[in-house]
Amino acid sequence: MTVRVGVLGATGAVGQRFIQLLDGHPEFKLAAVTASESSAGRTYRDAAKWRIDAPIPEAAAELTVRSTDPESVPDDVDLLFSSLPSGVAAEVEPAFAEAGYVLSSNSSNERMADDVPLVIPEINPGHLDLLEVQRDERCWDGAVLKNPNCSTITMVPTLAALAPSGLERVHVSTLQAVSGAGYSGVSSMEILDNVLPHIGGEEDKMETESRKLLGSFDGATLSHHDVSVSASCNRVPTIDGHIENVWAETDEAVSPTDVEDAFRGVESLDLPSSPEPLIHVFEDPERPQPRLDRHVGDGMAIAAGGVQETDSGVQYNCLAHNTIRGAAGAAVLNGELLASEGWL
Ligand SMILES: NC(=O)c1ccc[n+]([C@@H]2O[C@H](COP(=O)([O-])OP(=O)(O)OC[C@H]3O[C@@H](n4cnc5c(N)ncnc54)[C@H](OP(=O)(O)O)[C@@H]3O)[C@@H](O)[C@H]2O)c1
Repeated sequence: MTVRVGVLGATGAVGQRFIQLLDGHPEFKLAAVTASESSAGRTYRDAAKWRIDAPIPEAAAELTVRSTDPESVPDDVDLLFSSLPSGVAAEVEPAFAEAGYVLSSNSSNERMADDVPLVIPEINPGHLDLLEVQRDERCWDGAVLKNPNCSTITMVPTLAALAPSGLERVHVSTLQAVSGAGYSGVSSMEILDNVLPHIGGEEDKMETESRKLLGSFDGATLSHHDVSVSASCNRVPTIDGHIENVWAETDEAVSPTDVEDAFRGVESLDLPSSPEPLIHVFEDPERPQPRLDRHVGDGMAIAAGGVQETDSGVQYNCLAHNTIRGAAGAAVLNGELLASEGWL
């Protein structure tokens, strides 16, 4: 089966990753790209300032950028990936869903809505069925599925590994790359020779999205996990790859070996973009590192290491590529799940 796909916000930092990941994809064929009115009508090559360190895919380069509205996108596009600024997405994603399009969205609006599934396919694929509730409540022919924030998605697979031991409390401190803020997000004068000890809204996303992802869905209602998550988010002068220091407390005592075994035991899926293994465990306490390890599993795996005991539980470090596993790759994988579960 070939699924015709489009990308909304295709010229941005995450949009370019979508274009790169969709090039040569075994199931998806890129059929449409959209951006703001200042890009619409130009070729993708001309409108996108291509900043990925690999050549721009030729098939995408010659596409004409369309306006971001349902009338401008061909009806035969089966799946839309969205990487729009959240304010723009809040307006246009419902219009696309109402017009019958199925969206796999990376934008943060509505991630916490009761009828919007927030999914990491290897962790909570069953939450996808919340789309039935969404369609009933919103009377949409289409649907909107979300992937989590880039810092949340880096940590949650490791928390899911610890959940069977009774996850009670998590503290996390992040060191997040500048690409996470988009191309115009952080100026060089702010970030060079510096660390920004606050990222607006990010702490709250980590605290709330983690509980939703680890929650359970009974076919009608999604109950959030009761783990307490407290986050401190920092912007650091790396280009790609968010690394996080996590302190976790569990009901049952777990040793570092138990934790490493639990990480290795998280199963991957038989989807084209799902890495094997999902969590790559380093025994060297100096790994993972953003520059060395952000490409494990082609940027789709979580790298973890430095597991040690603390007075109240365990501490470890985890890392993921923020524009691949943390954004475009996460949404592509969600698209593959939608296809495999018959939603397209
Ligand atoms: N960067 C990351 O690591 C990351 C990770 C997770 C989630 N996210 C989320 O992903 C989304 C995109 O982030 P980004 O970093 O790719 O941002 P970005 O580089 O600023 O790109 C924004 C994209 O949206 C388009 N756009 C802007 N205003 C528009 C409008 N009014 N109508 C239609 N299109 C419009 C832009 O088109 P023009 O080029 O024409 O302006 C561009 O294609 C955001 O919601 C962000 O929070 C980002």
